[in-house]
Amino acid sequence: MTTILLTGASGYIASHTWLALQSAGFDVVGVDDFSNSSPGVLDRLRELGGREVVFERASVCDAAAMDALFERHRIDAVVHFAALKAVGESTRQPLDYYANNIGGLLTVCRAMVARGIHRFVFSSSATVYGDPQRLPITEDAPLTATNPYGQTKLMGEAILRDLGVAVPAWQTACLRYFNPVGAHDSGRIGEDPRGTPNNLMPYVAQVAIGRRSALSVYGNDYATPDGTGVRDYIHVCDLAEGHVAALQRLFDSPGSLTVNLGTGRGHSVLEVVRAYSRASGREIPYQIVPRRPGDVAACYADPAQARQWLGWQARHDLARMCEDSWRWQRLNPDGFDA
Ligand SMILES: NC(=O)c1ccc[n+]([C@@H]2O[C@H](COP(=O)([O-])OP(=O)(O)OC[C@H]3O[C@@H](n4cnc5c(N)ncnc54)[C@H](O)[C@@H]3O)[C@@H](O)[C@H]2O)c1
Repeated sequence: MTTILLTGASGYIASHTWLALQSAGFDVVGVDDFSNSSPGVLDRLRELGGREVVFERASVCDAAAMDALFERHRIDAVVHFAALKAVGESTRQPLDYYANNIGGLLTVCRAMVARGIHRFVFSSSATVYGDPQRLPITEDAPLTATNPYGQTKLMGEAILRDLGVAVPAWQTACLRYFNPVGAHDSGRIGEDPRGTPNNLMPYVAQVAIGRRSALSVYGNDYATPDGTGVRDYIHVCDLAEGHVAALQRLFDSPGSLTVNLGTGRGHSVLEVVRAYSRASGREIPYQIVPRRPGDVAACYADPAQARQWLGWQARHDLARMCEDSWRWQRLNPDGFDA
């Protein structure tokens, strides 16, 4: 059996990827420090996967814990999800973001290199494109960071490129995610944000369920069809399959790659609100408020490279993303800690 270590394993995207990897025949070992997730996820993964989960609670910044983990488990490849991800928080606490996101990456890579493990999948982000000059966005677009979180993704990509030069056997699949939304169709796992959601769909979900009174739409004067911001929403289960395809590619052929994981379609905030309202059968009250600094008008992927190199493409449309998100929200109004 081929064994994959998932860091940040109890988080939103990793938990869905865990199930996809098991279905594809991989063994999974998970590690997380629960800084932004809950142990309750593991019971759900056990139930959905129909087998015991192999999991360790530790920080990826803890070199001794990472060494011990790699000693205990025979790992063939790593998917590195563990990171802090709130853009606004990153501008207030830059040192925490650099320490965790860069420190954790270095610690995991060091432990791997010491043991001759060379296959690495990195959670990058469309945020590395900043305010894109051309749409759809191709992987060769100019890269920039407008906040410390984005900077940690840019630096992470650079570190992995340099490591690939120094260690010729090293292979990275750098996956630039667009906007992951939705949930597993069982309604048993999904996104469980702590505090006020930073992203649109979990916020809309909480308005639909009655936990929040109304959505604030930041600006309706962008150069987009209805004036509200346009993003490339991608179903988290499609994203999970993208990781399976990336790992298969690393095992099948030499070399590294960088690909966008998006649908190639942009949807405006108001389109999301209408689709969610249809999926939930509930009205979603909203008010237009001034633009938020740092937000871009539109951002969507050219997904051709992922199709060509990974044989992967997204399958689920916005209606399905909203239906699955709503099922998760409705069945778990208080998330995993209910
Ligand atoms: N969700 C998005 O919109 C999005 C978009 C682009 C990229 N990403 C990236 O994808 C990855 C996963 O994101 P997510 O949305 O699933 O976030 P998430 O917060 O749900 O998952 C991240 C997990 O990492 C864990 N973690 C953080 N620091 C850790 C540490 N030092 N040691 C061990 N575990 C640690 C957290 O507890 C959490 O369970 C992150 O790297 C994120 O930056 C997310």
